[in-house]
Amino acid sequence: MFRPVDPTRNLLDIPSLPAPMIEAYLERTAYYAEKLANKSVDRTVLAGKTLLNLFFEPSTRTRTSFEMAAYRLGANIVNWDPEGSASRKGESFTDIIQSLAALRPDGIIIRHAKYNTPHMVAQIVDCPVINAGDSWRAHPTQALADAYTILQRKGRLGGLTIAICGDVAQSRVAACNIALLSRLGATINLIAPPNFLPPTLPQANVAVFTDMDEGIRNADAIIMLHLQKERLDLSAFSDTIGYHHAYGLTHDRLRRCKGDVIVLHPGPLNRGVEIADDVADDPHHSLILQQAANTLPVRMAVLDLLLNA
Ligand code: CP
Repeated sequence: MFRPVDPTRNLLDIPSLPAPMIEAYLERTAYYAEKLANKSVDRTVLAGKTLLNLFFEPSTRTRTSFEMAAYRLGANIVNWDPEGSASRKGESFTDIIQSLAALRPDGIIIRHAKYNTPHMVAQIVDCPVINAGDSWRAHPTQALADAYTILQRKGRLGGLTIAICGDVAQSRVAACNIALLSRLGATINLIAPPNFLPPTLPQANVAVFTDMDEGIRNADAIIMLHLQKERLDLSAFSDTIGYHHAYGLTHDRLRRCKGDVIVLHPGPLNRGVEIADDVADDPHHSLILQQAANTLPVRMAVLDLLLNA
């Protein structure tokens, strides 16, 4: 039942992705960004295809942007609802996936809390599988959108210093961004309190800081991470105000950074916790809405390249 997985037929994570595929995704993203801007998207690219959205965890941005990407290219998309499903009746995950795959979707988009679940699904089904976020490990389309957003503003990734700040150990966005941005030649500054740092560093060109001001000082881009408030260690911080004081991105901190530093945040935002209101909305430094908008051409590129392969 479990077959080997072809990393060029699926998008499961960044480390397994061959370099030409990363290049192809970013190039096709630029193509679709221009088509969207000119309102000249070819709506027949995925005509006749039906996608299955399997979100076992909540999502505001990712699910909607995959839906819009599918519609913009002429595909249909079915949103499967785990709450009303047989998983509530005790059916095994594998049986559910096999039953859904028997309906022969042209592609499956999956988000799941468990480590490596999209990979396991790709071993069972015949169609391409796209990871829309699993566990703390992978969120490859978010990483591609973040890389593309930085490229758009800076014109390159090689030689840049990119700070990633917050709950690094628990963040699939951080894990995937470290893997992608370092492969594309950036140096990564990880910034977090010690209990939010991974036990081992995944790449050679990654530096670790527990002092936020030090970690962002030479950064060309700062990616702030969503703080899961329930993970806040009360022995280290009295409350979210204490966290904001130590690790929140404020204008006061930005003033001590490079003048052209850009700020990203994949969402959901905790304003006043990891990021100050006026930094999130800053018209010069914040690319947060552009980053959200870029998830659309990224996901159009991924659907096009995988479903039309
Ligand atoms: N960035 C992101 O994955 O957001 P959602 O959880 O809203 O999809």
